[in-house]
Amino acid sequence: MSKKVLIISSSPRKGGNSDTLCDEFKRGAEEAGNKVKKLFLKDKNINYCVGCGVCNQTGNCTQKDDADEIVNNMINADVIVMASPVYFYTISAQMKTLIDRTCAKHRQIKNKEFYFILTAADSRPESLIRSIECFRGFTSCLINPVEKGIIYANSAWNMGDINENQTIEEAYRMGFNI
Ligand SMILES: Cc1cc2nc3c(=O)[nH]c(=O)nc-3n(C[C@H](O)[C@H](O)[C@H](O)COP(=O)(O)O)c2cc1C
Repeated sequence: MSKKVLIISSSPRKGGNSDTLCDEFKRGAEEAGNKVKKLFLKDKNINYCVGCGVCNQTGNCTQKDDADEIVNNMINADVIVMASPVYFYTISAQMKTLIDRTCAKHRQIKNKEFYFILTAADSRPESLIRSIECFRGFTSCLINPVEKGIIYANSAWNMGDINENQTIEEAYRMGFNI
């Protein structure tokens, strides 16, 4: 069955390590016949959540920027892929900003399958744990999320390092097998 896949690439480096893994996941998922949309967050205008609380009453965010369209894409997807570089052992500010802006509609992001992609200079797989927990903190607030897979891309520092990394093939295969 063809699935609607949304890939959210949050590194500020287009063509960087995590963005390249997103492309490989996309290639695999498309070759398997799925409908895939990839978003590069740096191209989007997403303001910080201001914590006004209006959405608790209205179900809508008061801010008018690109966040609402992205959140609607999340609501409409079957599969959501969230990709981030490890920044100070957590996630990118771009991804965290988007997560906060799902606040108004996050209960509508339900029954989704999730994949996480993380890249880090650190060579230890356990160095990604806090970043994974950032994603899990988000998904734990949703209705019936299903965590399906994680790409642990360690030892990738400079742009292009990922091309020498086995996770390139893993990302393609994971995309193909969703
Ligand atoms: C601001 C900043 C903070 C970083 N913090 C860490 C870190 O805490 N641990 C680590 O292993 N790598 C860290 N890195 C390295 C990146 O995680 C690494 O270069 C990664 O491959 C970047 O992925 P990208 O090419 O998708 O942006 C940091 C890089 C930057 C720019």
